[in-house]
Amino acid sequence: MKPAKYKTLLWGLPVVVILSLLMYGCPSQQQLGSTADAAQKVYVAPGEYDEFYGFMSGGYSGQLSVYGIPSGRHLYTIPVFSQEATNAYGYSEESKPMLNTTHGFVPWGDSHHPELSQTDGVPDGRWIFINENNTPRIARINLSTFTTDEIIEIPNSAGNHASSFVTPNTEYVSAATRFSIPMDDENLNNEDVPISEYKEHFKGTLSFIKVNDEGKMEVDFQILVPGFNYDLSHSGKGPSDGWAFFTSYNSEQAHTLLEVNASKNDKDFIAAVNWRKAAEYAAAGEGRMVKGKHYRNYVDHNTHTSKSEVIEEVRVLDPSELEGIIYFLPTPKSPHGVDVDPSGQYIVAGGKPSTVIPVHSFEKMEQAIENEDFEGEIDGIPVLNYDSILHGEVENPGLGPLHTEFDDRGNAYTTAFISSEIVKWDLETTQVVDRIATYYSPGHLMIPGGDSRKPWGKYLVSLNKITKDRYLPTGPELFHSAQLIDISGEKMQLLLDFPTEGEPHYAQAIPADIVRQNQVKFYKLEDNNHPDAVKAEDETRVVRDGNEVHVYMSTIRTHFAPDNIEGIKVGDKVYFHVTNLEQDWDIPHGFAVKGMNNSELLVMPGETRTITWEPKQVGVIPFYCTDFCSALHQEMQGYVRVSPRNSNVEISYGTGQ
Ligand code: CUA
Repeated sequence: MKPAKYKTLLWGLPVVVILSLLMYGCPSQQQLGSTADAAQKVYVAPGEYDEFYGFMSGGYSGQLSVYGIPSGRHLYTIPVFSQEATNAYGYSEESKPMLNTTHGFVPWGDSHHPELSQTDGVPDGRWIFINENNTPRIARINLSTFTTDEIIEIPNSAGNHASSFVTPNTEYVSAATRFSIPMDDENLNNEDVPISEYKEHFKGTLSFIKVNDEGKMEVDFQILVPGFNYDLSHSGKGPSDGWAFFTSYNSEQAHTLLEVNASKNDKDFIAAVNWRKAAEYAAAGEGRMVKGKHYRNYVDHNTHTSKSEVIEEVRVLDPSELEGIIYFLPTPKSPHGVDVDPSGQYIVAGGKPSTVIPVHSFEKMEQAIENEDFEGEIDGIPVLNYDSILHGEVENPGLGPLHTEFDDRGNAYTTAFISSEIVKWDLETTQVVDRIATYYSPGHLMIPGGDSRKPWGKYLVSLNKITKDRYLPTGPELFHSAQLIDISGEKMQLLLDFPTEGEPHYAQAIPADIVRQNQVKFYKLEDNNHPDAVKAEDETRVVRDGNEVHVYMSTIRTHFAPDNIEGIKVGDKVYFHVTNLEQDWDIPHGFAVKGMNNSELLVMPGETRTITWEPKQVGVIPFYCTDFCSALHQEMQGYVRVSPRNSNVEISYGTGQ
């Protein structure tokens, strides 16, 4: 039996709650119920884990953010296309090659659409791909380490927006030109033409990047298409496996004031690409090799060092010569998103200025192709008859429908940008069954697995473009805002707002267990084959080679070896090769030198990272550990003595003298 005092305390609790409600204003019973209900649904107790990993594009930050769902907790930011001072990505010698392009070293990117690798049409948690829109590239991120393993540049492309969407067994990642570019028949890459001759010279390309079992990417082929703007993409699945769908706008081929001139046609097109057939043509050596210089940057896992290779040519397939690789599906009004439902039967377009959401039927599309039910042809590409391929049109879908995801119960969810809402509709009947307001102006939305064969249809995240008053104001610039919505019931229920970094165009999520079980906790020192690694303190040294000085340094709680270095001169280029000798999870050490012109290092246990420093001033310069690694972290420091350019101070170094 409980002591009486304890009993009283228990009985007293509701009184306290009621009192506090009286003091702070009393919400209606219904509000209280739904708020408490929502709070309970997103509450992840301290020390507990979230149910899903959520991956949100960082947009113009160039990175990929990782969130816990349903808590909305920001877990990590994976550096991808932009330098990241937090861990010296793009600053350390080991990672700098990742940002090499044909335009030189590009320290920034605009990341857009992450997509998880899939097996049999289901996210498998091996990798996540993400595209870079500005300097066309695709990255592959390893989800055992949450690090970028590879970045491939897309040649003959500008504005790599319709990317990076995978085929059901990750055979390919697709990409397309948002901006068509001058590509003459005989001389692709013809860049010097009057813009007014857009219609004569400008073309688009749809690119298929092959991914092998280890994840290595290679531009297998590009399909030459009319000079429209290609916007978004998704692969088919199930019956439509083997096909990929790309939206286009500006079928008018306007080159100025597109907001008016590219909205004239009643319908633009979805390009339906039979990628399996195209891949067969490519494998058989069809098409032609054209100039297409591009970089492939990748991490050599043996040394944990990234490397670049340059590829000069790429295979181009011309649909006017190769029958059956591409068809145009007429689609009203500058469609933006194109999404394929889990059954693979329906192809849903988001026609920005359209008053309906058109839903194409894959079965009817196949039939129309077989019957040659064409209403025309553009550059040798058959245009199918709209009425013949239509499954239905969703009436009253909200203003400015953009993107659609799906649950596992036959429902589709579409964002309406202008009317700021998410509209739920039935795939079979195309009838709207529910709608919920969002704050404000959603672009993409995401349901875990919601663009795959297997949606985990419990939550929906609305990725809102405009934040305004949702949080405490932070001056003119605000983070974007995501909203978590419960879709498990008949009515959608708003659960949570959480801020997101950069612009999270698109997102993916996957049950946490699939990814969690593969996590690498530290790198084994014995497997560290970095040429500049040290495996023990007695291997540390400082070596002069002309005006280059190489410092082979180790870190362990709580000192650097060496910690004092003399004999460095103004005009030297000093390479600090820092190996973290720790063999335990979450014990990185940092390294920074006063006045260095790049960033600090953050070195994971068992890893070697290199940062360079070019001292410009004579003096004794301190360095220290930037990561609070132990109670004696503040003691983890050292000095470099920098002597004049012409001095004859010899190299010397030591610890503990
Ligand atoms: Cu090592 Cu702080």
